[in-house]
Amino acid sequence: RTVGVVLAGGVGQRVGLNTPKQLVKIAGKTILEHTLALFNGAPEVDEIIVMMTPGFTDEVERIVARNGFGKVSKVLEGGASRPETTWRALRALGAQECDVLLHDAVRPLLEPRIITECVEALKTYSAVDVAIPSSDTILVAAPGPRGEIVRDIPDRSRLRRGQTPQCFRLSVIREAYERAFADPGFDRQPPTDDCGVVLRYLPDVPIYVVPGSEHNMKVTHPVDVFIADKLFQLAAGSAPERSAYAYREAMEGRTMVVFGGS
Ligand code: CTP
Repeated sequence: RTVGVVLAGGVGQRVGLNTPKQLVKIAGKTILEHTLALFNGAPEVDEIIVMMTPGFTDEVERIVARNGFGKVSKVLEGGASRPETTWRALRALGAQECDVLLHDAVRPLLEPRIITECVEALKTYSAVDVAIPSSDTILVAAPGPRGEIVRDIPDRSRLRRGQTPQCFRLSVIREAYERAFADPGFDRQPPTDDCGVVLRYLPDVPIYVVPGSEHNMKVTHPVDVFIADKLFQLAAGSAPERSAYAYREAMEGRTMVVFGGS
């Protein structure tokens, strides 16, 4: 049994609107709707739990009803931080054994291929990450006398950019989070994603890497809303309401999406 957990508990401070960024419309639908449509349509996913920003769960219930997302079993409030949101979702899943796919609601351009490969990898591994090579050189910076100075430039060929979904046997991610929340030092420097929690608290568990995609971007800054909208629209031609599906078809058919074309 496979459960998709859609993490939508944030406020989107960096996008800076009055409503959470996952409720911003791109290509005719909210970002959350695009993401839920993907999970609801994935044959590998049996059930979906949505973790939403406090105060906005009614809005999600309306979205679920309007779109007929029948796999959504629960819409719950997220916590004050991403790890707290994940922890709440894990507790809501209880003591059953299943596979969980934890996905950022604000990555609406996920390809079905990635879900398929993650679920396949979970037959062998109990923890699976999704990542792409870094095209930028990544620096380690440290505070200097004035501003920052470069401390290190790690070998780029070994660096990857982490995406989601991040996928686990429920018992494994629950164990990692139980240890994390029992650790008084956890809050001082919490990992930024769920694989980071497993790596820190269950270091012997190997985390398999599924190749992600450049398109599986996280809508983080205002410019990302524009880029994501463009990616949907370009694939959809003149039918924005169909764009999530058209995009998926385009990706599966390996259609090239070209910026700046006519
Ligand atoms: N998230 C969550 N619960 C939180 C914080 C974040 O479920 N307390 C989710 C977000 O809704 C998003 C994903 O985690 O889908 C990735 O986080 P990020 O892009 O950092 O989202 P926000 O926290 O909303 O953004 P910001 O830091 O700009 O406020």
